Amino acid sequence: MNESDNKIIKEEKTAKSKKRILTGDRPTGQLHLGHYVGTLKSRVKLQEKYDCFFIIADLQVLTDHLESYANVENNVFEVMCDYLGVGLHPNNTFFIQSQIPELAELSMYFSFLVNVSHLQQNPTIKDEARTYGVKNMSYGFLGYPISQAADILAFKADLVPVGQDQLPHIQQTREITRSFNRVFGRRVFNLPEAILGECPVLIGTDGKNKMSKSLDNFIAFAHSSEETERRILNMFTDPKRVYYKDAGHPDECLAFKYYCLFTSVNASVVQQECETSSRGCKECKKQLAQQINEDLVEIRERRQYYISQPELVWDILAKGTIRARKIVADTLEEVRNAMRLSFPQIKLRE
Ligand code: TRP
Repeated sequence: MNESDNKIIKEEKTAKSKKRILTGDRPTGQLHLGHYVGTLKSRVKLQEKYDCFFIIADLQVLTDHLESYANVENNVFEVMCDYLGVGLHPNNTFFIQSQIPELAELSMYFSFLVNVSHLQQNPTIKDEARTYGVKNMSYGFLGYPISQAADILAFKADLVPVGQDQLPHIQQTREITRSFNRVFGRRVFNLPEAILGECPVLIGTDGKNKMSKSLDNFIAFAHSSEETERRILNMFTDPKRVYYKDAGHPDECLAFKYYCLFTSVNASVVQQECETSSRGCKECKKQLAQQINEDLVEIRERRQYYISQPELVWDILAKGTIRARKIVADTLEEVRNAMRLSFPQIKLRE
């Protein structure tokens, strides 16, 4: 064994002594500010303390974006560049869901532990079906929380940082954990916990709905500063302030919320000027756009650097997927043993 092998084994050992985090996104397109304050920002902090696994859940795209599947490779690449752009270190474990078939296997096993009616009541599934106009829901769509439970439990993750919409799925994962351990009489899995980001639901620029790409009320890391400004200038503000001379209500104004979340501007000055009508909504949004653009410069530059280095990005994913596969293979061995599905009598596995 050479020195570098030794080093890898040592690293694996220290990694295991740290608590594990697993989280990720479905690659339906570029990530945006909603993802940033919902979970990405907290992931950047958490990576310092935990052994982090980031799943790019390409199979989950088949739930409600079946038609747009042709873009999936490109979207995986974009999401990776967004991740690295916001400051996730390349030495975390990033991997592609479909490239670990055991995740599908585990999902199949778990499917026997979940009631159909329970899935039908999952509020996030209902919401997504409504948003994307899905009328005849596929079996895979209805069952994707089970596949998500498999993603999480295959790594025996301790913590799952997510946005608010994902909470029902984490709850479902905990229920599967309990029933698996009970039914098969072994404590194979531990109960994972969700961690919410600083702003679990960010309202998009339409002032009504959760920020989302499909509703076109979003600001992406991939947007240019001009596009960002255009989107912010069109943003919905305080409906009660009709004329410049009317006093504003910053607490009810989306622009003000964005000031607090995305800029380093002293919000109390903005607040006071708005309440005393010494700043108009248009100039307020212009300044907001400028500030957001300034604060996003570093992220956008880093993102652009990775966009221009596709080999490097795919290589980070390849290394991560290989490491992830090993861990999942070990878990699946335990699972098959617990479920009496390993058949040692017929030696098919090495
Ligand atoms: N459902 C998540 C999303 O839509 C993506 C995802 C798949 C995920 N598997 C996961 C998130 C496991 C956390 C843990 O963004």
